[in-house]
Amino acid sequence: MTTMKAIRFHSHGGPDVLVLEEVPRPQAGVGEVLIRVHAAGINPLDWKARDGHVKAWLQHRLPLIPGWDVSGVVEAVGSGEKTLKVGDEVYGMLDFSRDGAYAEYVAARTLNLALKPKSIDFTQAAAVPLASLTAWQSLFETAGLRSGQIVIIHGGAGGVGHFAVQFAKWKEAKVIVTASAANENFLRQLGAHEVIDYRNTRFEKTVHDVDVVLDTIGGDTQQRSWQVLRKGGILVTTLRIFSPEVARDHGVRGEEVLVHPDTAQLNQIAALIDAGDLKPSVAAVLPLTEAGRAHELSQTGHVRGKIVLQVTG
Ligand SMILES: NC(=O)c1ccc[n+]([C@@H]2O[C@H](COP(=O)([O-])OP(=O)(O)OC[C@H]3O[C@@H](n4cnc5c(N)ncnc54)[C@H](OP(=O)(O)O)[C@@H]3O)[C@@H](O)[C@H]2O)c1
Repeated sequence: MTTMKAIRFHSHGGPDVLVLEEVPRPQAGVGEVLIRVHAAGINPLDWKARDGHVKAWLQHRLPLIPGWDVSGVVEAVGSGEKTLKVGDEVYGMLDFSRDGAYAEYVAARTLNLALKPKSIDFTQAAAVPLASLTAWQSLFETAGLRSGQIVIIHGGAGGVGHFAVQFAKWKEAKVIVTASAANENFLRQLGAHEVIDYRNTRFEKTVHDVDVVLDTIGGDTQQRSWQVLRKGGILVTTLRIFSPEVARDHGVRGEEVLVHPDTAQLNQIAALIDAGDLKPSVAAVLPLTEAGRAHELSQTGHVRGKIVLQVTG
């Protein structure tokens, strides 16, 4: 049996349940490719899966290899696969129901992948898929954000938020962001017109008649957001809508987004990166063996941009 190194967990728990093991190397099935992983991006979903937060929803079979953002090189193609070939440099978002990319190899459906942007390395590329697709699908697919509209992005300095700021600027919207003061310059450089320090200012005191709210924070932040929307405006959240009745009272819409893989969107995102209109920001790169440390950092809730695990190269 051919094996590989991977980080797995056999039971739910803290970062210490993540263990480096020698495990069977997967094979590419029909419509799939086997990827030699260069890097795996970290998302909050990774530690939510590890600690059992989402087990009712995802019902993973354990042991599980986490990590659903990947960049790497196609090592082998499954039968019937014609879009990708051995040697292609790819990036993508893997299916949540399957083993992920904290490993030397991962098998993936080609529908989850696209060719990696040429202008960035594998480490940066692994930071892109899940968070940028979430931002894209929230702003464009769900909210239909248009040029000239006003958008407020809560959590603008985070994984999803920092892509959303750049997409909204590219769309020529007016971009308002909530973040801590330490992230103000970072966000202005990405294109934010106004940065509100959520620790010192209540955004609802100064912001009104907004067309779109993108909520990546939830809770009280979401609750106070309904009132800043214009009539007919929309709040899109990456979490749950906690009180749909309040949305109705304000004459606005609330939508929950669940990110899905999309090769065409990944191609568009790669083109924006290669054109210089979009830049992933990577706060930390850690070796695969430090997956637990990467989870601890992500769980602080205050990472700027993304964290990436370097697997090879
Ligand atoms: N539904 C879906 O499909 C989907 C997809 C992706 C993500 N998500 C979820 O969406 C959430 C965000 O994901 P993410 O990857 O962007 O997380 P993340 O990268 O961990 O977000 C961290 C950022 O949140 C900011 N932040 C923390 N508290 C804040 C507050 N009260 N107001 C404004 N900003 C605040 C921090 O900025 P400061 O350091 O300045 O505080 C930090 O930059 C997570 O819960 C994730 O699980 C859902």
